[in-house]
Amino acid sequence: MATMESLIGLVNRIQRACTVLGDYGGDEAALPTLWEALPSVVVVGGQSSGKSSVLESIVGRDFLPRGSGIVTRRPLVLQLQKTEQGLQEYAEFLHLPKKRFTDFSMVRKEIQDETDRLTGKSKQISPVPIHLSIYSPNVVNLTLIDLPGLTKVAVEGQQESIVQDIENMVRSYVEKPNCIILAITPANQDVATSDAIKIAREVDPSGERTFGVLTKLDLMDRGTNGLDVLEGRSYRLQHPWVGIVNRSQADINKNVDMIAARQREREFFATSPDYGHLTSKMGSEYLAKLLSKHLESVIKARIPGIASLINRSINELEAELDHLGRPVATDAGAQLYTILELCRIFDQIFKEHLDGGRPGGDR
Ligand code: GDP
Ligand code: NA
Ligand code: MG
Repeated sequence: MATMESLIGLVNRIQRACTVLGDYGGDEAALPTLWEALPSVVVVGGQSSGKSSVLESIVGRDFLPRGSGIVTRRPLVLQLQKTEQGLQEYAEFLHLPKKRFTDFSMVRKEIQDETDRLTGKSKQISPVPIHLSIYSPNVVNLTLIDLPGLTKVAVEGQQESIVQDIENMVRSYVEKPNCIILAITPANQDVATSDAIKIAREVDPSGERTFGVLTKLDLMDRGTNGLDVLEGRSYRLQHPWVGIVNRSQADINKNVDMIAARQREREFFATSPDYGHLTSKMGSEYLAKLLSKHLESVIKARIPGIASLINRSINELEAELDHLGRPVATDAGAQLYTILELCRIFDQIFKEHLDGGRPGGDR
């Protein structure tokens, strides 16, 4: 198990190093393919459906801009990297490589500032992602992507094309087969009109990589409940729907923290006359567990394929570095060395893993 975790951690580091390098290698090379080889989780849904809130809950940290209207205006590619117990949590942006953030409210501010740097303080969007890594003993190795919300109409200060631009941006992420879709659907709207379900159905008709998430259960009209959706009668997916109660805008204004919010969410389900029988399968913590279990099985199945990709990468990198001539002075050259080194470590651990006679982990 430790080995599987270290292999996944290494692939994450290789992916990050490849990101720093930009689009090295062109279409034929193994490195870009490697980037796509591991699953990432993408949150999709209408504006203010609760996407950023759900993502924060999964990470267990407050660090994302949230609120009414179009708050998320650039994709945020969030890489979680598990570190050893006892080490301090910190965050790092790709565009600020030498700065370690330990105050997560500053992470939120930097996301806002970096968004504005490209789009102005307007309601414009940009497809250029912000890359953020969080290093913590309390996370699972995982890539999560937060996206702007789908809308139906442009608002004051936005171009007409924004509706289509956002849809195209979202589609470019969710159509990748390695993408796990978190389809965020607010419970106070009809599931038949869910933007998330509409696009998920289009790119994943069988529903095998879509997780339905029903937010805002606390905001449903009296006398109604979300059981038809949660029990799969409204729209069936292969994975069970998970109901969520995030912090309200009033909670955000009052700075209600994550721990208090989770406690309240648990109480909501435990004391509700409608959802009592589903309590153990509802809420943010359950969703995080469900996802990490799913990811683990997907990743385990892919490790042998990734190992052969890494092998190819090693050959390519050696050829590339020979071609550049040693010693390499450029930043890109140094980066290639780093990737090569990481690939060799992966290769080594993977071989030891095989020698241990149990390829694929603790089956
Ligand atoms: P996004 O635009 O989809 O990323 O949505 P946000 O996470 O920014 O949330 C939009 C607004 O809805 C914020 O004011 C949140 O406080 C509120 N919100 C999100 N989820 C819930 C929920 O489950 N219950 C309540 N009451 N409010 C929520
Ligand atoms: Na919003
Ligand atoms: Mg958002």
